[in-house]
Amino acid sequence: MSNLAADPLDVLRRRTSAKWRTYSEDVLPLFVAEMDFPLAPAVSAAMIDRIEASDVGYVSGPGPVGPAFAGFAARRWGWQVDPADVRTTTDVSVAIVETLRQAVRPGGEVVITPPVYPPFFELPVEAGAVVREVPLLAGPDGWSLDLAGLEAAFADDGVEAFLLCNPHNPLGLVHDRHTLARVADLAGQYGVRVVSDEIHAPLVYRPEDFTPFLSVSDAARAVGVCVTAASKGWNIAGAKCALMIASDDRTRLLLDEMPAEVGFRTSILGLAGTTAAYAEADPWLDDVLAVLDANRRLLGDLLAAELPQVRYRIPDAGYLAWLDFRGLGWGEDPAGTALEQAQVALESGLKFGSEGTGRARLNFGCSPEVLQEAVRRLAAVPASGV
Ligand SMILES: Cc1ncc(COP(=O)(O)O)c(C=O)c1O
Repeated sequence: MSNLAADPLDVLRRRTSAKWRTYSEDVLPLFVAEMDFPLAPAVSAAMIDRIEASDVGYVSGPGPVGPAFAGFAARRWGWQVDPADVRTTTDVSVAIVETLRQAVRPGGEVVITPPVYPPFFELPVEAGAVVREVPLLAGPDGWSLDLAGLEAAFADDGVEAFLLCNPHNPLGLVHDRHTLARVADLAGQYGVRVVSDEIHAPLVYRPEDFTPFLSVSDAARAVGVCVTAASKGWNIAGAKCALMIASDDRTRLLLDEMPAEVGFRTSILGLAGTTAAYAEADPWLDDVLAVLDANRRLLGDLLAAELPQVRYRIPDAGYLAWLDFRGLGWGEDPAGTALEQAQVALESGLKFGSEGTGRARLNFGCSPEVLQEAVRRLAAVPASGV
């Protein structure tokens, strides 16, 4: 069992990040995707080391992060990455925008699969593209990509790219190899580029269940660019370093044609922290996963006991829980009720697309005590108070 524990609330409230400064102290913030654990010692040491060396200038290139990521990908997923194929930029959002800017003509369409990470509705637009929604399918065994819907969209000449969330936020859905292989084949058939956002991949509970898109097939490598970062797994979103990986001449070209500034905007501190995360911090990641694994089950137990009307499917990746409040009658936006009546800040389901009506996303990357208190507060909302 791991010794890793979330920082206590009084320590967390000294943090200046969005999670801790958006709401007043009476609110439990379980909305934005940041975790409450202290950083991996190897990651903080690497960033402190650069500060102590007064080495906080501009990055000179991806440097050691390529080999560090390749080592991690091989150990964790058996994915062989050529370190020379790894480029960096500021963050995954920038990586998505810049890749789409190269892959899609102005006005071209980019497919997204709601309910999905809210900026997916905006990042293609920032790149001059238009969003096309192909919602996930909700079946008895959970959610899945709608392959027939994707094929119909890809067959449309207007569609030029697919922004894949792999694993999928907010559901913690880990797409299987067979599905991804089919996506790759369809994309190849209809000339669609696939941008695979793999930022949550280090947080897949059974690493062997995760399939990096570029590891699937030659067809996937011919159409796909992987965008990822250490920022979710090791909780360093503010350090500003993300990776873009292409391993086929046709997709490398997309990265080659980006302005040099896209790489230059990587933070040197982020690069140091990210390199340490991939090269030296597997044990910390495993500790985090053990704590999150306990939390994802605890949340299920707490809901079953105190809020049985709320539906929850234990995620296979990450620390985000997609909760269906419709059985409680809290209306279209239960996050509003949670904030007003229970002083618990959840991410509104409405931001994730119309499929999010009556739902909200809860972040359980916290202590079990905070999770217990959050559910206790939600369960205490009087039915008449809604
Ligand atoms: C799927 C997904 N992509 C991208 C991001 C944002 O990444 P970054 O902070 O590196 O832009 C997040 C943040 O939670 C995310 O969940």
